[in-house]
Amino acid sequence: MAALENRSLDSKSWDGNYGPHGWHRYVGRFPPHLVRALLNHFEARPGQTVCDPFTGSGTTLVEARMLGLRAVGIDLCPLSCMLSRTKSKFPDDPRHLSQRFNQFSQHFEGLLAGFTKAHPSGTYPHNAVVEREGNAIPKFANMERWFTPEALLGTSVAVELIMQEEGYARDLFATALSAEMRSIGNVDVDVVRAEYRKTARVGVDVLRLVSRRVKKMLAGIDRTLRSHEGLIGSPDDIDVREENMLSTDLAEGSVDYIVTSPPYGVESLSYLRTHLLSYRSLDAHFKYDPYSFSDDAVGSEYLAADASAAGSVATSLSPTFASFFSEGFDGTDPRRVAMMEKFFDDLVQVGANFQKWLRPGGAIAFVIGNKRLGERVIPTDIIVGELFSNQGLRLEKTVEHKLKTNNSNSEVPWQERIIQNEAVLIFRRA
Ligand SMILES: C[S@@+](CC[C@H](N)C(=O)[O-])C[C@H]1O[C@@H](n2cnc3c(N)ncnc32)[C@H](O)[C@@H]1O
Repeated sequence: MAALENRSLDSKSWDGNYGPHGWHRYVGRFPPHLVRALLNHFEARPGQTVCDPFTGSGTTLVEARMLGLRAVGIDLCPLSCMLSRTKSKFPDDPRHLSQRFNQFSQHFEGLLAGFTKAHPSGTYPHNAVVEREGNAIPKFANMERWFTPEALLGTSVAVELIMQEEGYARDLFATALSAEMRSIGNVDVDVVRAEYRKTARVGVDVLRLVSRRVKKMLAGIDRTLRSHEGLIGSPDDIDVREENMLSTDLAEGSVDYIVTSPPYGVESLSYLRTHLLSYRSLDAHFKYDPYSFSDDAVGSEYLAADASAAGSVATSLSPTFASFFSEGFDGTDPRRVAMMEKFFDDLVQVGANFQKWLRPGGAIAFVIGNKRLGERVIPTDIIVGELFSNQGLRLEKTVEHKLKTNNSNSEVPWQERIIQNEAVLIFRRA
């Protein structure tokens, strides 16, 4: 498996963007060929069910659809669920979508022309856009720094029209807008976490950017339908649930395989910060504020200030956990220690759910990384092995495997710093 991601001598990088995989640069994406290798390793057959309970941008679901598997994806985050639906539930016959997009473009031009006619000087404040009839983007902190008035106007018009669409077309156009946010907002593209750009973007043409993206996506649907003809499954076989997986109730024994990668602990990757402009702009589509996840999220940073490290469930189930956390962490904020302990307590529940959902003999590929806590590296892989074994899930093997995320084989320095090593843990239910 490790060989899969090593650069070969004559290729610059693996193409992790085939089919719908390249439609959105969701932070912390799975390399798709890893998912495919794992499904092949499990000998998954069409009609069987694979589950990814931390589905992120839906990489597992896309691979499942391409291979004719049924799939259940779960994620708390509305952006993740939207990306997952768009990438894995595209229609078998997408022809009507180009026509819908042509109408979208015409309406866009009309609305833009109406606004600019009312502001003949060509200059207008951000507030004029927020107060525009039809605008659905609520004012948010530092909006003026994130968008030029012109970029905000284009985004506002796009969102107004997206909200008039239904079903798959709405998800498709909203995903295209979200994917282009890095070229629309004043976001520094060299950083993974959203930061202001030093100089504001000028001449942002939202319709041109979104059109280019939608066309690319529609061509991608056609190509995928052709490249996987005879194998690809129906969009109805992919179920995307916007839920907390800790409390999701799947029927007992209903899943053949689980292929997933949870957050690696507290603050491994900040999905909320990285995709801030997508959340803020598409607030109307998402219906609720994802900043209210609080401690529902596995690896949450939002624990009560007085949360204590005592009484962790994991202590009694994992000797490695007990000894690691008994040693003390000089100079480390005790709240951070409590957050990590809560993370492992959540993993106890994750293991219990897996045991229930999987059929006997069903298999799990659990991709996890070991983070630092203060000066010490947490042996997360070993702790997870112990926690899951307690639930009746047998650890078959541990494959050390450093992931390359974000669609390329480029080195990601921040990732090197906070994630020491990664492994694919393969479990089987007895
Ligand atoms: C490492 S990402 C998964 C990335 C995914 N493998 C991909 O290819 O895009 C982890 C995901 O877990 C989700 N998550 C965190 N806590 C959750 C919970 N309690 N229930 C469901 N999803 C959760 C986050 O929103 C995030 O999208």
